Amino acid sequence: MRILVTGARGMLGRDLLPLLSAKHEVLGKDIQDFDITDRKRVQEEIAACRPDVVIHAAAFTDVDGCETKRDLAFAVNGEGALHVALGCAHAGSRMIHLSTDYVFDGESGIPYPEGSPPHPLNVYGESKLQGELYIPKVLENYLIIRTAWLYGRHGKNFVDTILRLAGQQDELRVVNDQKGSPTFTKDLSQAMGRLVEEETRGVLHVTNSGSCTWFEFARKVLDLNPSPGRKVRVIPISSTELARPARRPANSVLDCSRFEQITGFRMRSWEEGLKEYLS
Ligand SMILES: NC(=O)c1ccc[n+]([C@@H]2O[C@H](COP(=O)([O-])OP(=O)(O)OC[C@H]3O[C@@H](n4cnc5c(N)ncnc54)[C@H](OP(=O)(O)O)[C@@H]3O)[C@@H](O)[C@H]2O)c1
Repeated sequence: MRILVTGARGMLGRDLLPLLSAKHEVLGKDIQDFDITDRKRVQEEIAACRPDVVIHAAAFTDVDGCETKRDLAFAVNGEGALHVALGCAHAGSRMIHLSTDYVFDGESGIPYPEGSPPHPLNVYGESKLQGELYIPKVLENYLIIRTAWLYGRHGKNFVDTILRLAGQQDELRVVNDQKGSPTFTKDLSQAMGRLVEEETRGVLHVTNSGSCTWFEFARKVLDLNPSPGRKVRVIPISSTELARPARRPANSVLDCSRFEQITGFRMRSWEEGLKEYLS
């Protein structure tokens, strides 16, 4: 298959490209090649490439930054997704779009299945939801993959931040009232490698299995750290104490059973993924 990947230089894109390239002809593009807010340019690029599949991983992913750059968030995450979907409709390509657990408000006591009503708490989630809602309006052959709490070798992420701070401070204060599923970009890339070859349409939740709070995640990072330095105290705090610009859901764990039924494959636990990342 010929696959065009947007956001190819991002954290997910840089794991996804080599994995897909082993089996498919893959073209990676990022903002240096074309800006997804430019509708005409996006259409021209997709038409010129005529891909079987477009994986749309480009996004404005700075969750707190989206609060102050609202117009940019909607232009990139909302309209940008629409432009890619229009390009796919025109070229007869399938679209695989990346979305987020932050489309939910976190009020549910159980993991969210795909059909749960979205209700984002922050601009990032609102803009990503807008992208999700645009796609089915213009394209039939699409798959929206909602994932969560990504970390990987090629991007700024929570695991690296905890390790860096642990080298500088005796005490780390980490929020303990937000629960989710940390997901290794390598594991997500492998899952996407399977989904590229499936005809699945609609929305699918894909994360590493299990869940934890950011505090528990930080503790595990330090426990599994292959080169622990001095002892660092991790102190659980509330989201109110941290006071970040964007509100975040208390429980954004995604129910991935549809993915498991379709592929016959269960994602490994977040702890196993983390162990490999740290090794
Ligand atoms: N990271 C997470 O925890 C997480 C969780 C759930 C879902 N997701 C979704 O998963 C996907 C991949 O995330 P990621 O963490 O790999 O993101 P990332 O590292 O921020 O990569 C996104 C890429 O898109 C590029 N981009 C930004 N604006 C663009 C534009 N206008 N035109 C073209 N390219 C543009 C970025 O370039 P610059 O870096 O130069 O801006 C970057 O290379 C995104 O759709 C994201 O919403 C991420």
